[in-house]
Amino acid sequence: MSEKKKGRILSGMRPTGKMHLGNYVGALENWVALQSEFENYHLIADYHALTTNLDTSEILENTLEMVVDWLAVGIDPERSPVFRQSQIKEHCELHLIFSMLITTARLERNPTLKEQIKDLNMNSLIYGHLGYPVLQAADILLYKGNVVPVGEDQAPHVEITREIARKFNSTYKKVFPIPKAMLTTFARLPGLDGNKMSKSVGNTILLSDGEEEIRQKIRKAVTDPQKIRRGDPGRPEVCLIYTYHQRFNASETDDIYAGCTSGALGCVDCKMKCVAAISKAISPFTEKRQYYANRKDEVLDIIKDGEKRAGRVASETMQEVRDAMSIG
Ligand code: TRP
Repeated sequence: MSEKKKGRILSGMRPTGKMHLGNYVGALENWVALQSEFENYHLIADYHALTTNLDTSEILENTLEMVVDWLAVGIDPERSPVFRQSQIKEHCELHLIFSMLITTARLERNPTLKEQIKDLNMNSLIYGHLGYPVLQAADILLYKGNVVPVGEDQAPHVEITREIARKFNSTYKKVFPIPKAMLTTFARLPGLDGNKMSKSVGNTILLSDGEEEIRQKIRKAVTDPQKIRRGDPGRPEVCLIYTYHQRFNASETDDIYAGCTSGALGCVDCKMKCVAAISKAISPFTEKRQYYANRKDEVLDIIKDGEKRAGRVASETMQEVRDAMSIG
């Protein structure tokens, strides 16, 4: 690599299919921006997906749909390999070794896991789910990632990764850097019902939605319940649409705030401005998106090529690990 880079980034996502605005502002936008400064590796965490869904029938299609959007927003697979965890066997190998370097008590204390147990109403825990952060540590450290861009909910996993890296380095030899989490600033974009935007909740605006679909969705979104008709003063702080304006329509935000609080701006007009702003923000992705959506074979080839390149790094690191442990 000829350009001087600041270090290596390992970013990852489970294959959840078409990307939504929350994925974009919480992760992808940041990934694209970081491509020129760092050496990036973009992981598709397809084995991790099994922790909450054993049905694998849609994993490949969801992977391709997701990567179509990654490419559409500007992830450059030439510079930054895109690859599936499942196709690089070293992830499993390193995961096994790492599973010896951490206690179950430590993993049971993981706040992200506790939250999932509560949210998903789980009354028993799959062994692999407990070990989720151990596999994530293998994902990150196999590529000697220095920086991991994640939302707040994933910060505990990066902390566990740091502990495992230190434990390995002190038990055997210094092989791994101690990675840092880079928190995204706009990590939790609300969905159309006010809860975090998420595919499983069904409150999303997709990057592939056209203006008409966005209009239909925004039309139904709840605004400040105290503002019933134009003329009523509204409270932008509690309004979802205002949050979208802040994020996608920065230049008009002050006017909208003034119009809403004075009552001069009605919710319908405000929503129309919001639809226009969101459509404008995602319109630059449409052409590329369409191109790849119609050429899924090409997308799979891009992933396979990423797997070759990522696989070389993974195998080098694994050799260092075996050398450090004197096991072959
Ligand atoms: N756990 C991450 C998520 O749910 C996905 C992930 C898997 C990941 N491996 C990773 C993220 C490695 C960053 C680095 O969002």
